[in-house]
Amino acid sequence: MQTVKVIYPGTFDPLTNGHLDLIARGSKLVDELVVAILRNSDKGVPLFSVSERVEMISEAIVESGFTNVSVTTFDGLLVDFARAQGAKAVLRGIRAISDYEYEFQMAMMNRKLDAKLETLFMMPAEKYTYVSSRLIKGVFKLGGDVSELVPPLVMQRMKAKGKTV
Ligand code: PNS
Repeated sequence: MQTVKVIYPGTFDPLTNGHLDLIARGSKLVDELVVAILRNSDKGVPLFSVSERVEMISEAIVESGFTNVSVTTFDGLLVDFARAQGAKAVLRGIRAISDYEYEFQMAMMNRKLDAKLETLFMMPAEKYTYVSSRLIKGVFKLGGDVSELVPPLVMQRMKAKGKTV
């Protein structure tokens, strides 16, 4: 029997409720969903190390009861990683039209690099359309309450780090 494996790649620094919402939606449609954290991100100094992010996502997967979701890391080209994993597609979230241009470019570049790899776009719940890891870090740093926007286990770890984002 053929099973459908899909990669959900990203930086996840940190995992948000928007990410979790997308994982929930995606995992219902596929046999296997692999959350893949990019190791060599060029987004500057991260709040959480890659291993901390793996830990948090693993805990969130267990807590949410997802039985067909796993987490791993990757380096280099996403298409190479997806091929090595035997994945048929990549899942990406589109929150608003502003995401579309970047996501479209990335999907087309990935298609150019590997015509067999599809990109699936899904929308998170409306209440998360403005949520991004970048905004969460910024607001938290300035003392704002982001506790409804990240899983409690992420909030705890953010508090433990202090406002040193
Ligand atoms: O959460 P992000 O930061 O928007 O995720 C971006 C990510 C990790 C999906 C993207 O940067 C990526 O796939 N990087 C790997 C390098 C690669 O394959 N680049 C070519 C795609 S245009």
